[in-house]
Amino acid sequence: MIGATRRTGRWDHRMTFLFNSDAARGAIFREVLAREIPDLRFAIDPAQVEADDVRYMITWLVPPDLGAYRRLEILFSIGAGIDQFNAASVPPGVKIVRMVEDGIVRMMQEYVTLAVLALHRNWPAYLDQQRQPLWRAIPQPQAQDRRIGVLGLGLLGQAVLERLKPFGFPLSGWSRSPRAIEGVTTHHGADGLDLLLSTTDILVCLLPLTAQTRGLLDAGRLARLPRGAALVQTGRGAQLDQAALLAALDSGHLAGAVLDVTDPEPLPADHPLWRHPRVLITPHVASVTQPETAARAVAENIKRHRAGLDPVGLVDRSRGY
Ligand code: NDP
Ligand code: OXD
Repeated sequence: MIGATRRTGRWDHRMTFLFNSDAARGAIFREVLAREIPDLRFAIDPAQVEADDVRYMITWLVPPDLGAYRRLEILFSIGAGIDQFNAASVPPGVKIVRMVEDGIVRMMQEYVTLAVLALHRNWPAYLDQQRQPLWRAIPQPQAQDRRIGVLGLGLLGQAVLERLKPFGFPLSGWSRSPRAIEGVTTHHGADGLDLLLSTTDILVCLLPLTAQTRGLLDAGRLARLPRGAALVQTGRGAQLDQAALLAALDSGHLAGAVLDVTDPEPLPADHPLWRHPRVLITPHVASVTQPETAARAVAENIKRHRAGLDPVGLVDRSRGY
């Protein structure tokens, strides 16, 4: 097929953008890129392109034949995280760029606000009472007495904190390097984490998955949370020790959890977390790349790259995010 196309001289040797995802989103990317960067060729079917013409690729997983694209310049992740890429298998000269686009930010703000308010207003416990059925009021702390701690003060962590501000919760956050955010008590490093955990009633995890954050939320760290605290896990499943979470819920140390990400995904049907009365689970939908805004963000990044600027969302391989 490839040879036949080459022999008939039908190759269109233009810099090519290879879209390695679903056709519906591809159609939107095709239209936006044609409008924004008319000289760029767009392809969904790798069999229809000469590998050496491909300069940009967007994908969720790194394709096994990535090495065939010898002139690839940017590998875009179609999602915000890049832990699903084996970065070591991506040639060092290729820039890895995560998805930074308004749709992801907006949806994460909605989801975390929903989850925090659900936990704050005892929603899992009321759902449990409804199943019984039981008409009983649960004592309700006020927002100023419910401390929210956010792990990860990047694009999403900061956006979520901004959305939570009007409710009046005391807010704190934790990052790798020091950060100053108005209205938020910030911590960093190992000591900072211990302090944040011991002063947090609802913990939100919005960390990338790296060697340092894998297994971070283990039994010891969950135990540092005050009795009655709750968890919103929107980072990556492998950051949380799920057995430790179950034990903490069953002992009454933790009051509830909202989990959007699990390990593995999907969570096996017989996993006890599915049926735990104080756990709410969604199937990794907290935020989903929106093709219109994502395609515009990718077009903007290609323009930046062509102008000699770093793309927005460029991954620092040494940090792993
Ligand atoms: P960013 O890269 O913008 O921010 C990451 C933040 O985590 C930074 O503040 C960084 O610290 C901090 N961090 C990283 N490693 C450590 C560490 N070892 N110790 C302390 N802090 C650390 O990422 P985003 O905000 O855009 O996204 C965060 C994650 O959210 C994604 O990687 C993905 O896993 C998850 N996500 C989940 C989705 C879902 O639907 N469930 C959708 C989208 C994203 P510093 O500021 O010092 O760099
Ligand atoms: C993610 C995403 O990284 O879906 O989780 O964007």
